[in-house]
Amino acid sequence: TVAPSADLRNSSSPLQRFVKGKRKINDIFVEIEDYVLDSSNYVSALRKENKVIVDEGDVKLVTDYVQKIKGIRDVLARDHMKVAFFGRTSNGKSSVINAMLRDKILPSGIGHTTNCFLQVEGSENGESYLMTEGCQDKQNVKSVGQLAHALCKEKLNENQLVRIFWPRDKCFLLRDDVVFVDSPGIDVSPNLDEWIDKHCLDADVFVLVANAESTLMVTEKNFFHKVSTKLSKPNIFILNNRWDASASEMDFQDQVRAQHLERAADFLVKELKVCSPKEANERIFFVSAKEVLQARLNEEKGMPPHSGALAEGFPNRYFEFQDFEKKFEECISKSAIKTKFEQHSQRGKSVSQDIRDVMESIYEKALATQKDKSFVKKDLNDKLNFTEQQLLLITQEMKEKIHHMVEDVEQRVSKALSE
Ligand code: GTP
Ligand code: MG
Repeated sequence: TVAPSADLRNSSSPLQRFVKGKRKINDIFVEIEDYVLDSSNYVSALRKENKVIVDEGDVKLVTDYVQKIKGIRDVLARDHMKVAFFGRTSNGKSSVINAMLRDKILPSGIGHTTNCFLQVEGSENGESYLMTEGCQDKQNVKSVGQLAHALCKEKLNENQLVRIFWPRDKCFLLRDDVVFVDSPGIDVSPNLDEWIDKHCLDADVFVLVANAESTLMVTEKNFFHKVSTKLSKPNIFILNNRWDASASEMDFQDQVRAQHLERAADFLVKELKVCSPKEANERIFFVSAKEVLQARLNEEKGMPPHSGALAEGFPNRYFEFQDFEKKFEECISKSAIKTKFEQHSQRGKSVSQDIRDVMESIYEKALATQKDKSFVKKDLNDKLNFTEQQLLLITQEMKEKIHHMVEDVEQRVSKALSE
């Protein structure tokens, strides 16, 4: 058996780190939301009682955070790992995505097939449907045929995005929050800047699907030069696809491979300067998406991965594809944790810090007013003192609660990040 089952891969997949991290940070934000609500109620009530200790600004600051935290939780719920595929027409972008998803989901074929941006993401409840930009309707799709038809029927602009929702339980990559973006051939469109602004800025990983039968082209290179001016050190993988074609040219195979490898590595290391020579070795692969997809479809039916005539060297290519997937999973999970969660945890920290400061100042003011009172006649003050003592106690308690929360959040965030 060449391929471990989807479930086996899932349990050990680095993608799980993202999934678990997301769950953890979400739990932390549930708590922060709790504290912020508590604090907001407390500060508002206190203001009604005592306008000296709590000023309007404090109340506004704390209550405004209620909405902000809600906003962060919404963004957090939508956070995913995004991979975008680029390359010239017919290099096999859609085929690579299908191979990774283990199913013929995206239409693929000779000629110019994909004519707009297609985003594949997991859906709940086993539903499959698509949604076009600016339209809330779900169009049901049951098969690739239907999907291709639905896509043709729409008058789509190449820049537009069609979101394809596919049952999460059909593929562990979708279940683990990976979102795939397929693009039209890079050579077909003149609107590369628009493409980048619209579809690339939040991508965690880019996959350049090159054609192993030719060589890296200027259009492909230019595109990534543009990408790397807008993003600092994008994570780029280069797949030399259609490597099965080299099987018929055994004599030159090693030479061709060495040449492709050198050029691709030079491109990543010297031109784009996005990785070191050592890292480049983990970013360049020689594969056949078509073979892998076929093998996986066979396995799904309980058949051996290869039946019938196959080009020489299939097991190696299949292995290399799996190796690519492993490196890809490590890379995307690491990158997404950093780019998405680091931001949230900074926000969470600063929110809790601000609230703590407010509590601190309320406490200080409460203390100060109590001292003033000691100069006034004793009997008049006893009653007042009692309430303020109570107030002080509660503020102190609140302050400590927030203090613990800040420490707890900090600890857990840094633990989650280092994990
Ligand atoms: P556009 O959407 O038109 O930009 O093309 P694409 O890059 O998505 O390519 P697609 O996946 O549609 O593949 C184009 C053709 O190449 C299809 O007929 C695939 O079956 C075939 N193909 C894809 N990968 C391989 C491969 O590794 N080996 C061989 N021999 N054929 C492949
Ligand atoms: Mg395509």
